[in-house]
Amino acid sequence: MSYDIRIQKELINKLADSRKIVVFTGSGVSAESGIPTFRGDDGLWKKFSAHELANFDSFMKNPDLVWEWYQYRRRIINDSKPNAGHRALVELEKYLDVTIVTQNVDNLHQRAGSSRVYELHGNITRNKCTACGKRYDGEIELADNKPPHCECGALVRPDVVWFGENLPEGVYELAEEQCESCDVMLVVGTSGVVYPAALLPSAALSSGAMVVDINIDDSDHQHGRRLFIKGRSGEVLPAIFDEIKRLKEY
Ligand code: OAD
Repeated sequence: MSYDIRIQKELINKLADSRKIVVFTGSGVSAESGIPTFRGDDGLWKKFSAHELANFDSFMKNPDLVWEWYQYRRRIINDSKPNAGHRALVELEKYLDVTIVTQNVDNLHQRAGSSRVYELHGNITRNKCTACGKRYDGEIELADNKPPHCECGALVRPDVVWFGENLPEGVYELAEEQCESCDVMLVVGTSGVVYPAALLPSAALSSGAMVVDINIDDSDHQHGRRLFIKGRSGEVLPAIFDEIKRLKEY
């Protein structure tokens, strides 16, 4: 076992007996795939301005800049692969009813093969028209580095949620239902500071679920009734999977 999970017996027993689990993920779960997180010393928001790049008004003022940034992020994501953490969550489906609720837009849970994924902040592999909403999925080649336009004439934008925007219709409610009806919620690789997503662990806790944070940093994860496992998701999640497999196949 690469990560000593034995002390977390309480969690493993609870997981093994659970009917339904929710795994709530943030950018930390993709860090080991080489995709930068948002906060912290190496985070995207240290080097780039969220105000200029993740905001509708700024996009309309300077679409070239915003498109350039999204094309840069897409290249990083396209060149990356799901890591051991993503894969362990897929494997867990063999034994448990797993729902993923993710803040990530990188599509890596889906590429890994997770079957139920709620995307709270959209998906960077999709685009949509700013006026009529028509979808343009997959890679878009920019002619002369100019932002694409829809057949209706309006600008096309990445299908991600920017600051001040609503979440995709209905998805938060569906995610909340899952959180309120699960037995265990794993909160993996998120700073938990962006709302309304950050409310979901409390919703699960209030409904009686065991909530466990998995993070490399314990400084902002002192949440009273929540358990905490310090470590990389690419190590902790496979270790949890190994323990569940051992118990289920015993
Ligand atoms: P953050 O960058 O805020 O937080 C990443 C978290 O992952 C931190 O708590 C790190 O300690 C932790 N972490 C890093 N590497 C890890 C690893 N290998 N294993 C486990 N934990 C690790 O990213 P998010 O919480 O995802 O929103 O940010 C939330 C939202 O803020 C994003 O969805 C995005 C951003 O602005 C929108 O774009 C709307």
